[in-house]
Amino acid sequence: MRLDKFISSQRTDLSRNDVKALVRKGLVTVNGQAVRKSDIQIDENSARVTVNGEEISYREFLYLMLNKPQGVVCSTKEGACPTVIDIIPEEYRREGLFPAGRLDKDTEGFVLLTDDGQLAHRMLSPRSHVPKRYFVRLEKPCEQGYCEAFESGMTIDGNEKCLPAQLFPLDNENECEVVLHEGKFHQIKRMFEALGNKVIYLKRIMIGSLPLDDSLPLGGVKEIEDITPLEER
Ligand code: URA
Repeated sequence: MRLDKFISSQRTDLSRNDVKALVRKGLVTVNGQAVRKSDIQIDENSARVTVNGEEISYREFLYLMLNKPQGVVCSTKEGACPTVIDIIPEEYRREGLFPAGRLDKDTEGFVLLTDDGQLAHRMLSPRSHVPKRYFVRLEKPCEQGYCEAFESGMTIDGNEKCLPAQLFPLDNENECEVVLHEGKFHQIKRMFEALGNKVIYLKRIMIGSLPLDDSLPLGGVKEIEDITPLEER
């Protein structure tokens, strides 16, 4: 891979022009030697590259945790509404980045953005059953029978069978948390509708065993360093 491409793909805050300028100043080394040109080829798997004395370790893919605000769509296509790609800072944008799984436009919370197609495929496969946890606020109180109804595998809209899901009531009687093991269209809203209730606020708070970082403001993004919890049941 070209050195400038390698560095700017790993250090999203540095453009290729920035890399060129750093090389000119002698601040970039490859295998211990300061380099003179930014367009040289390196072996990204074995080269030891430093910028300003800091070693860059090679990561092929980018994994981002986004705290999606309402009004933003989980799509990569431009339309009337801003997309999750539109709202992330420039330094994180790269080719092939897409949301691995969708939230409704009015749902907040954890969206995984990645360019790792294989991980996304595994997570989105109907057989993956990676748990996703949601905070739910309802129009009317959560009723006693809801836990059993969710656990038994509900049928929604007449013929759509859901996998067993878990419901955990919270202290506020109108609030609960729900864990789904699949992702049908508007699933939580439709499950509560089938029970005669209505979701008035929904937020995804965990994927696999990775919780949404509660210090991330709405619209905030951070890089996920260890992706193993994403697929943990
Ligand atoms: N269930 C819904 O109804 N909407 C979401 O965005 C996610 C789960």
